[in-house]
Amino acid sequence: MSNQINFPKCFTAKQNKRHIPIKIVTKTSFRTFQASLTDSQKAICEDLGFKGRANQITLFYEDQGLAYIIAGLNDKPSLQDGAHIARYLQSHLSQNTLKSLSFSYDEQDIPDDVLAKISLGWGMACLRNDQNQREHYPKLILSKRIDKTEIVSLIEGLYITRSLINKPANELGPQEMVTIANLVASTTGGKIKTTQDKALLKDNFPMIYAVGDSSHRRPVLIDMRWPRKGAPKVTLVGKGVVFDTGGLDLKPPRFMRYMKKDMGGAAQVLGLAWALTKTKTPLDIRVLIPAVENAVSSHAFRPGDVINTRKGLSVEVTDTDAEGRLIVGDALTYACEDNPDYLFDFCTLTGAARVALGNQIGALFGARKETTQSLQDLSMLTEDPLWTLPLWEDYKNEMKSDVADMDNIGSGRAGAIHGGLFLEAFVEKDINWAHLDVYAWEDKGRSAFDKGGMDQGLRTVYAYLKEHAVNA
Ligand code: BES
Ligand code: ZN
Ligand code: ZN
Repeated sequence: MSNQINFPKCFTAKQNKRHIPIKIVTKTSFRTFQASLTDSQKAICEDLGFKGRANQITLFYEDQGLAYIIAGLNDKPSLQDGAHIARYLQSHLSQNTLKSLSFSYDEQDIPDDVLAKISLGWGMACLRNDQNQREHYPKLILSKRIDKTEIVSLIEGLYITRSLINKPANELGPQEMVTIANLVASTTGGKIKTTQDKALLKDNFPMIYAVGDSSHRRPVLIDMRWPRKGAPKVTLVGKGVVFDTGGLDLKPPRFMRYMKKDMGGAAQVLGLAWALTKTKTPLDIRVLIPAVENAVSSHAFRPGDVINTRKGLSVEVTDTDAEGRLIVGDALTYACEDNPDYLFDFCTLTGAARVALGNQIGALFGARKETTQSLQDLSMLTEDPLWTLPLWEDYKNEMKSDVADMDNIGSGRAGAIHGGLFLEAFVEKDINWAHLDVYAWEDKGRSAFDKGGMDQGLRTVYAYLKEHAVNA
């Protein structure tokens, strides 16, 4: 892995050789806009049938070439509006043209929050997972009226997240995860400590070791810190299964196909930590990533095995495919020993969460109602939807084992809830903990979300932590 991150160049500070303004209209502002046009401009609009409708985009050419752009936005503009414009330019202008131009929103009539949204959306649309679409991006000059550092840092964070998820598992094992974590730490001024292989047993992470022992690519617990005296303590835990075969309870081929993305939680917390630290958010941040491969081998843990845990509870492995909760369980216990003010975990934990909510909506669980409520509300504002599911007490009875304190899957139907309840057993009662069961993948591709690795929950938790960060 290279020792540098190649972020897409979708923003520019300087006005390139030629600078193209983008005029924004909505259906409501179209009449006033039309009145401001010259007769020939009106005629062009008429010819093209441009009525300021959402997603209508018109390129205006003058003698020297492209002169300006008019873009129709939804009356309630979203990220997708900005993304749509960037995508349109990327597909309608040649690589050479894109190279020589810069763009900016003609901003007089746009409120600041809309300007920020459509600028972020622009950047998100330039995060192309498709290798063939990566040469030149339309370059936006960010307005002085918005927080440029925030937009750039978020786009960089999202890029880290998505590109890590896209990496094939043969190129991203637990060790390569350490390399990228090192790179993130050294670039953002963080500290890093790793506990590798047998040391995991010695230092009492039995579940991480049991799962990771199945692979010749040895398990590791990555522990990163950005200390800040007096600031709220935030710990982010990410499931880092670099590939999930299911273990001895082997997944059938169609369920195994995309399991390179089973480190999607780890990718979210690295991208989130990047965005929070690059924006110098006053928080005392810690990231924990148990990184393992759930492989098939003579060292693999088995159905029926009883394993110990850092917490001291014993767990009967009913299914080796429920491996994420095991490694994250130990990491959560470890996180609580430090008594954080906020503890968030991101995991591609269950297929059941997808059955309940589909691929676009992350499942959210939490110890405190006020936290899940504000996360869910913020998720709607940030267009990063999460929906709360209950940690239903009575379903704990479905996770009983005859030979251990609990089993690792549960016998009822609510698989995502069982996953949440299992993790809850490893979290101290008074900790403000939330669990995000995410898909981290876009199946089809929508403007701001290219097909492939996807950020899910990252922008919501970023917004939440921004609200709760305080200077000492
Ligand atoms: N990584 C999977 C969950 C997953 C599958 C997330 C597909 C997103 C898409 C996880 O380790 C797993 O296999 N979970 C099992 C749990 C079951 C054995 C209780 C599942 O969901 O089937
Ligand atoms: Zn699994
Ligand atoms: Zn998994």
